[in-house]
Amino acid sequence: MAVAVVGTQWGDEGKGKVTDFLSRQADCIVRYQGGTNAGHTIVVGREVYKFHTIPSGILYPGKTCVIGSGVVVDPKTLMVEIETLTQKGISLEGLKISDRAHVIMPYHRRLDELEEARRGQSPIGTTLKGIGPAYMDKVARQGIRVADLLDEDAFREKLSFALKEKNQLFGGVFGVEGFSLDEILAEFGEYASSLRPLVVDCSLYLDRALAQGKKILLEGAQGTMLDLDHGTYPYVTSSNPVAGGGSVGSGLGPGLITTVVGIAKAYTTRVGDGPFPTEIQGAPGDRIREVGREYGTTTGRPRRIGWLDTVVLNHARRVNNLKYLALTLLDVLTGLESLKICTSYECRGEEIRHIPAGLSQFQDCRPRYFETPGWREDLSRIEDFRDFPGEARRYVRLVEELTGLPVALVSVGPKRHQTKVLKQIF
Ligand code: GDP
Ligand code: IMO
Ligand code: MG
Repeated sequence: MAVAVVGTQWGDEGKGKVTDFLSRQADCIVRYQGGTNAGHTIVVGREVYKFHTIPSGILYPGKTCVIGSGVVVDPKTLMVEIETLTQKGISLEGLKISDRAHVIMPYHRRLDELEEARRGQSPIGTTLKGIGPAYMDKVARQGIRVADLLDEDAFREKLSFALKEKNQLFGGVFGVEGFSLDEILAEFGEYASSLRPLVVDCSLYLDRALAQGKKILLEGAQGTMLDLDHGTYPYVTSSNPVAGGGSVGSGLGPGLITTVVGIAKAYTTRVGDGPFPTEIQGAPGDRIREVGREYGTTTGRPRRIGWLDTVVLNHARRVNNLKYLALTLLDVLTGLESLKICTSYECRGEEIRHIPAGLSQFQDCRPRYFETPGWREDLSRIEDFRDFPGEARRYVRLVEELTGLPVALVSVGPKRHQTKVLKQIF
């Protein structure tokens, strides 16, 4: 069986924590899209791990962790990630990488910076990791894949071709210096040697794993509202974090993903630019940011804070065919007198319960809220969900009622044991 973990909001919902938690019951954990724009944090004991490319199952010994075909891999960052984990005594024996994954090249990172600067007053607020430009080359059928990296001649040929165009762009359009073929060849030759033993055909590998009765866990990056097709375009990332992307990006046929779990923060955050109807200006948003330590894992930027938006969650339910929700960071809401949950939007004189495609229409959406009382008890220390204060349990029930989805997990802290299992997922 294959279970997918997807973000329901604008990323940073706690996918890393939930993936790590569920990995205990899985055999094989697969990242299916995105790249080093992702920052997934896992806390085990006193140790804090931040993953950008490596699947969040790697902390459990004996699991296989595959960087899937839909991921764009930055080998330089991956090497650092591998090195950091090795230093912490984590075995990377189970790490694999798809031969079809595309490679983020130094010129992609540079282009990301230059394009953001060109957008002037209306940037996307990207992570500047080269994600958009790498996916652009993939779609234009001029990307470099892991398989090419391993083939010295193919790599030289593809890189020479790419650099001809890119260096013209750097010099002619942006007026900056280009990149040297020989320097990249030397640098990437070393990455090729390090990566070679990890490379697999991802789809074939997973097919065999399923045939042996292994359990597969797909780990999404970003979130539904950052999805290239179903998010707040153009303020999105350049891949498909939705569950359908899990099929494409792993090479598992659509019907094989039997359960999709949507990860939802108990409130909402967004890092980067773009519309955000339930955004809170000032207090209590500032308080949530401090208590929840809402600063980007990848870029350190303060995250924008908003109330929980069930229009967004229902959009995520539909486009991902969610079976369950995992509600995270509920502990962060402790101490707030009253909590708001958005149930619909008022948009140009009409009440709507869907996300309009037009950006200006979405920008005109004003949230309609349902208010519910808060609680004062520290949830992070309570063992049993049944012992939670009534207001907190009511909040969880409201989320279930307003989305029509059962909440399978409630997370009240970054650690594994701070996870309440209300329904078994595997
Ligand atoms: P991801 O990108 O979806 O994996 O999420 P991030 O790791 O970027 O951001 C989530 C942050 O919240 C991380 O710092 C986690 O350690 C932390 N976290 C996860 N679940 C909980 C929770 O239930 N309570 C609290 N207080 N922190 C949590
Ligand atoms: P995880 O996996 C939150 C946002 C950026 C920007 C937009 C496009 O940790 O949830 P990109 O660099 O992808 O071209 O930037 O998407 N973004 C994220 N926001 N969490 C992430 O990943 C994100 N990855 C990209 O801030 O608004
Ligand atoms: Mg993150």
